[in-house]
Amino acid sequence: MKRSTVKELLGATEKNREVLLKGWVRTRRGNNQLAFIAVNDGTIIHSIQVVADLNLFPEEEMKRITTGSSISVTGTLVESMGKGQSVEIQAKEIEVLGDSDPDVYPLQKKGHSFEFLREIAHLRFRTNTFGAVFRIRHALAFAIHKYYNDKGFFCLHTPIITASDAEGAGAMFKVTTLDLKNTPETEEGEIDFNQDFFGRPTNLTVSGQLEGELGALALSSIYTFGPTFRAENSNTPRHVAEFWMIEPEMAFYDIHDNMDLAEDFLKYLIKYTLENCLDDLEFLNKMVDKGLLERLRFVLEQPFVRKSYTEAVEILMKADKLFEFPVEWGLDLQSEHERYLVEQHFKCPVILTDYPRDIKAFYMKQNDDGRTVRAMDVLFPQIGEIIGGSQREEELDKLQSRMREMDIPEDELWWYLETRKFGTVEHSGFGLGFERLIMFITGMSNIRDVIPFPRTPRSAEF
Ligand code: 4AD
Ligand code: MG
Repeated sequence: MKRSTVKELLGATEKNREVLLKGWVRTRRGNNQLAFIAVNDGTIIHSIQVVADLNLFPEEEMKRITTGSSISVTGTLVESMGKGQSVEIQAKEIEVLGDSDPDVYPLQKKGHSFEFLREIAHLRFRTNTFGAVFRIRHALAFAIHKYYNDKGFFCLHTPIITASDAEGAGAMFKVTTLDLKNTPETEEGEIDFNQDFFGRPTNLTVSGQLEGELGALALSSIYTFGPTFRAENSNTPRHVAEFWMIEPEMAFYDIHDNMDLAEDFLKYLIKYTLENCLDDLEFLNKMVDKGLLERLRFVLEQPFVRKSYTEAVEILMKADKLFEFPVEWGLDLQSEHERYLVEQHFKCPVILTDYPRDIKAFYMKQNDDGRTVRAMDVLFPQIGEIIGGSQREEELDKLQSRMREMDIPEDELWWYLETRKFGTVEHSGFGLGFERLIMFITGMSNIRDVIPFPRTPRSAEF
C-alpha cells in the first residue's frame, strides 16, 4: 500500500478505507484497553490520532511506542468521535520503525524555550513551532521564484566565492587553500596569494549585486537568491553571519520604479503566506505572537510611507524619546531609530530615500546636491531594515570619481566599469534579507529561529 501523509489524511473526503501512515509519535495517552497515539509527519501542523485496541497487539511491541519513536500504521481511516479532529485511524497493524528512549529524548511534552531548542537544532524541526516556521520558509522561497518568474525576471546564480567586496563594508570571510601554518611569502614578506587556489585573495560574497547588475544590463530584469556572508561581530537578534538574500536588479528602472517593486513584492509575499499557510500562521498567532495576523493584514492594506532620510532625521531630532545612539544628519540610523519611525511615528512601513553619500556604498546614484545618494531602505515594524537598495550610478565618470574618493581600486572592478562604457542605462535594484522577511511573517523575534542552522560569532554547530 502507498503511504499517505498526515496532510492527505486530514484533508481526505473518502473515509472508511485502508490507509498506511508513517510518522513520529508526539504523545500517547489512554487506558489499559485503548491507546490514543498522536502521530505527526511534518507535512502539516496537525497530528493525526491513531487508536489502538491493546488486546490486538503484543504488549512488548506497544511498550516501544513512546514520544519520539517512529511508527508505521496500517488501519482504517474513520470519522473521529473525539473532539478536535475530523478523522482518526483505527489501527490494524503497528510496527515500530525506530525506538526513542523516553528518559533521554530531549523533546518532552512541556513547552521548551527557544534558547534551549537552539541547542538541539537537529531535533527542533519536530516541534510545532519550528515545523510551522520551516514550512513557511519553504512557501516563501517558492513564492519568491513564482513572483519573479510571473513578472518575466530571470533567476541568475551569482558566485559565492569572489575577489571583490561589493558593499565596501569590510568584514568578509577569507577563502583559501593555503596551509595556514606555513603560508608562502612574497619577497616583501607578505602572504603570496599567487600560490593560493585562485592565484589571488578571495572571500565569501557579501552580495550578488555587482554580478547581478551585469546580468540586468543585458537581460533587462534578473534576480539572485542565494547565501551571503558577513563576518561582522554583531550579536543581535537580527544578524547572522550567513544569510540568504533576494536581489532583483532591473535595467530602465529609476528609484521610484524600484520602490514600487519592493512594496508590491513584499505585499505579494505576505498575501501568498496568508493564502497558503494559514494553519501555520494561526498556530504562530496563538502561541508565539498574538498580534501577528493583525499586523500582516495591516501591512497588506497600508500604502508604505515614503520619506527622505533628511525628513526622518528631523522627525527623530524632535522626538520625545531618549535614544541610545545619537541622531544627527550624516550619521547612519540605528535599529532603535528605524523602529521609532515605523512603530511610533508613522505606524506603518516606511521607505526612506536619499541618504548621505558618505554612509552608503560607492555604486549608488549621486544626487545633484552633491551630498546624498539615491538609496532606499524599507523599514518594517518589529524588524527595522528589511530591504536595502538604490538606483545605481550609471555615469562612468561619476562612478570612477566616487571609487577614487573611497579608495576602491578600478582594476579590480574593471568588468563592472565596462558596463558603464558600453551602452550604459539607468538601472536599480535592492536586496531583501530572507531571514528578516521570515521573522516578520512568522512573528519570531530572533533570527536564529528562522534559519535551520544559524551561523553567528562563536557558533557553527550542526
Ligand atoms: O543593506 P544591505 O547590506 O544591501 C546590500 O547588500 C545590497 N547589495 C543589496 C542590493 O541593493 N542588491 O543588505 C540587504 C538586506 C538588509 O536590508 C537586511 O534585510 C539583510 O540584507 N541583511 C542581513 N540579514 C541578516 N543578517 C545580516 N548580518 C544582514 N545584513 C544584511
Ligand atoms: Mg543596508
